[in-house]
Formats: sequence, C-alpha cells, structure tokens
Amino acid sequence: MGMGNTPVIILKEGTRRERGKDAQFNNITAAKAIADAVRSSLGPRGMDKMLVDSMGDVVITNDGVTILKEMDVQHPAAKMLVEVAKTQDSEVGDGTTSSVILAGELLKKATDLIDANVHPTIIANGYRLANDKAQEVLKNISKKVSIDDEEQLNLIAQTAMISKSVGGSRKYFADMVVDAVKTVADKGADGKYTVDLKNIQTVKKAGAKMDESYVVKGLIIDKEPVQQSMPKVVEKAKIALVDAAFEVKKTEIDAKIQITDPTQIAAFVAEEENMLREMVEKVKAAGANVVFCQKGIDDLAQHFFAKAGIYACRRVKKSDMERLGRSTGASIVNKIMELDASDLGYAEKVELKKVEDEDMTFITGVKDPKTVSILVRGGTNHVADEVERSLVDAWSVVKVAIEDGMMVTGGGSTAMEIAMQLRDYAASVGGRAQIAIEAFASAMEIIPSTLAENAGRDPIDTVIEMRKQHKAGNKYAGFNPYTGKVEDMAALNVIEPYRIGKQAINSATDAAVMILRIDDVIAARGGAAGPGPQDIPDMDD
Ligand SMILES: Nc1ncnc2c1ncn2[C@@H]1O[C@H](COP(=O)(O)OP(=O)(O)OP(=O)(O)O)[C@@H](O)[C@H]1O
Ligand SMILES: [Mg+2]
Repeated sequence: MGMGNTPVIILKEGTRRERGKDAQFNNITAAKAIADAVRSSLGPRGMDKMLVDSMGDVVITNDGVTILKEMDVQHPAAKMLVEVAKTQDSEVGDGTTSSVILAGELLKKATDLIDANVHPTIIANGYRLANDKAQEVLKNISKKVSIDDEEQLNLIAQTAMISKSVGGSRKYFADMVVDAVKTVADKGADGKYTVDLKNIQTVKKAGAKMDESYVVKGLIIDKEPVQQSMPKVVEKAKIALVDAAFEVKKTEIDAKIQITDPTQIAAFVAEEENMLREMVEKVKAAGANVVFCQKGIDDLAQHFFAKAGIYACRRVKKSDMERLGRSTGASIVNKIMELDASDLGYAEKVELKKVEDEDMTFITGVKDPKTVSILVRGGTNHVADEVERSLVDAWSVVKVAIEDGMMVTGGGSTAMEIAMQLRDYAASVGGRAQIAIEAFASAMEIIPSTLAENAGRDPIDTVIEMRKQHKAGNKYAGFNPYTGKVEDMAALNVIEPYRIGKQAINSATDAAVMILRIDDVIAARGGAAGPGPQDIPDMDD
C-alpha cells in the first residue's frame, strides 16, 4: 500500500458511482418501474393512458412505445427498456408493451436469484440458453400464412387493433389495411414478399367518424390549386414536378434603380412579365397540364397558368414531391427552362376534393400501382391520431406476416407453451443454468397473467389453469379476456405474426442480460444515476 489513508481521486468532481449489488439493485428497480408503467395497457381489456407533456399537449394512447416515448425517462437502465420498445416498434411495429413487460419480468426473476446468491453472470448465461430454446419452440409452434389468405391476414390485423380505441370498427379497418398492404407488396425472385411501408401514406383530418376513413389507390396531397379559375379535375394528367420558384429573382444586393422617365417603369414591368410568361410557356410546351411546385408561384405566373388551363400547386412538401416522383414517374426539375416532355409523370386523374373544410388534391391511376394512401378520420385530432397509430400497428403486423409467412396464436397461449417446454429443457440442462432457465420460463408467464389481471381476473388461477391445459396437449390454450376463461385461441381466431414473439423475446433477453452484467455505474455530473449511495468514489479497495 504505502499510500496512507488519502483516497486517490481519479474521477472528475461531481461524478457519481454505484457498484456491486447497489448498482444492480438500482438498475433493476428502475427498469421494472418502466415495465410497471405500461402493464395496465396490455391486451383487449388494457386501459389507455393520457400523457401531458411540459407544453400541456395531450396524447391519449394504449400504444406501449408511444407511452414510453412521451415519458421523460432519466435513469440509464430505464432508458434501456425504452430502447426495447423502440426496437420492437421499428422491427415489427407491434408488441411493444409485451416486450417491455417481459424484459421487466426477466429482471424481477433475476433479483430473486441474486438474493439467493446466484451470480448475475450465471443468470445471464442461463437466460441466453433459454432464449435460444424459446426461439426454437416458437418456430415449431408457428403456422404458415400466405399473402392469399386474406381472411387470416384480416384476423391478424384485427388482433393488433382490438385493444385500441378503433377496436369496435376493427373489421372495417382490417379490410382497409390488408387491401393497402397487399397493394404495395413486392414479390422477389425467390418468391418471398417484401413490403415497403413507405408506399402507404396517411392523411389525417378530424371532423368525421373514424369509420369514414378510406383507402385511395394513389396519392393525396394536402394542397389546392393556387387559383380558383384553374380546372378542378384533370384527366390523363401530365405532371411536372418543379423545385424552383415561378418568380423573378430579386437581386441579392440592394440595387437602386433610377428611373427618370415613366416609360422605363413600363419597360421594367414588361421585362418581369415576359420572364414569368416564358417560364409558364416552357411548362406548357413540355406538355404538362399539372404542376407541383416546391417553391412559390408569383401572382402573375398563377394567372398565366390559369389561362393555360394548367392545375398548379405551390409550396408542396419535399416528401410529397418525392412520393409524386416515385409514383407518377416524373423527375423533379430544378431549372424551369430545362423542363422537357421526358421529365413529366402520368396519372389518370388529378382532382380537387373537399375534405371537411379543406381542399386536397387526389392523384389516382398513377404509373406505379404500388402507391396507397389512407384518409384517416376521427371526431377530434386526438382520436384521429390514435386511429393512425392503430393503423400503423395493424399494417405492420400484416406486413411482417406476409414477409415471414408465419403466425402464432395470441392471448398468452404461445408464451405459455414456451414456458412449459422451457421447463422440460431446463431439467435436461441441469447444473447451475437450470435454475436460470426455469426463472426465464416463469417470466414468460407474465404475458397471460397480465392479460388476466387487466381483465379483472385472478392471474394465478388463470396461469395454473393454462398450465394444466398445455400439459394436456392444448398448445393454443390462452386467456379470453371477454369470458375470463382459458380457451383455445386458434378456435377464437386470435392470431398474430410470428415475428412479434421472436423480436419481443430476443430484445427483452438482450436488455435483461445487458442490465444484469452491469456492476458498476459511473455517471458524469448531470448524467442521472439511480437513487442510492454514491458521492465521491474511492478507487483503492
Ligand atoms: N381477442 C383476444 N383474446 C385474447 N388475447 C388477445 C386478443 N386480442 C389480443 N390479445 C392479446 O393482447 C396482447 C397485445 O396487447 P396490446 O396490443 O395492448 O400490446 P402489445 O401488442 O404488446 O403492444 P402495443 O400494441 O402497445 O405495441 C397480445 O398478447 C395478444 O395476444
Ligand atoms: Mg398490440
């Protein structure tokens, strides 16, 4: 030693540090708190949450990832659970609540083991083994679904929407969603399908019942022609996309123009007028009868367009311009005077339609048939927002079901089957890993038990009954929140894509393992560590 009692300080002042069991305990507590925050919203009988941000804006939702995104989470371990939800959302688009609840439960079961002096590394390794086995079981119990099974796809979409506020109209929305996703699905050379959800666009408008939402095979642009006297409908539209202003550039430097003779003003104005006229002439000469301009259109140019019978919109969003380009085959032109017939796109119809009090442009019969828009309606903006979120969940599950061609039953039946088979597996592994695999198996049961709890039923009785039925060979026994009984989920058509479970179990395991392996948290000033002992660290023990 020889250093006496003077602590050697190697970390900046204000750095906080937690170690060993304290670090683990605090991390796990924070992560579990996140899981608890979303528990009550799981399943058809789950509740919605009203979130109010610091600006006073309100979001009402049942969507796990939305709840967590809106919450201002500080703790680093808690943030890792929020990441689980985000990953689930980006990879699958549904199952965000389940994935977080599962991660929380894996950690809870781990605490029990740590308390019983099982080392976190052993738990982590056991969890990894259990995850591999769970993935295998999941694959084995999944069933095939093809893009032509419209009925099955419709049911998958319905399962994803049942817990949302659109639940009552879910059949109607499911039809819309399946139609939209099938329209944009692409068949690869290997016969497999891919779905690019970017091809499905939503346009929200409050002020009507949610089941007045509908699908448009084409595009909806939230713009109207710049002048009343322009045509309201253009058939066989030749479309120009222009990323330049139909305006005469004002000089950058403040130039003073001295006019000594009134005729000079006239000449000056005439010059401007000519330039604008030339621009419009150029568009006309290229053969366009519709123009979408990303920039501004001068009053005079508007007048020339109207006189030429051209449908012109200005200040169109960049994303809309790109979408227009993709679907109509038009290229976006930066220099008006270089516009050429070959740059134009085509649509059978460009039409001005009134939606509520607003005018919008509908573009249908486009070149690329894989363009779909959904006009989303709802009584208020909050409702329309939640309808949109539910549709996103629904088309995401239909997408992944089509891509993977595999589905499983819901209502906790799949989780329960995995739990049962994991217990058998644990016994075969034996040794110290066995106890961790068993803990993993019990953690899987959090899904059926939370579904039961949220439906006001006894979670323990439900889980026991479900175990019994799975032991007896009913792989599809799950919880029916409407009757409160354990029933056959395949018979009830409660089905969901295989990828929900695959991703949820994977990312929940990853997060739990990562959090378990941490035994030292060093946080710079301002970086939040959990509650508990910290202060100046001593590095010499
Ligand atoms: N009719 C039903 N009967 C039984 N269980 C159902 C039924 N419909 C859905 N479920 C179950 O409800 C759970 C899904 O609930 P929910 O949609 O609230 O959460 P999530 O999908 O995990 O997260 P989120 O949708 O917020 O991303 C799944 O376990 C699913 O099997
Ligand atoms: Mg869901």
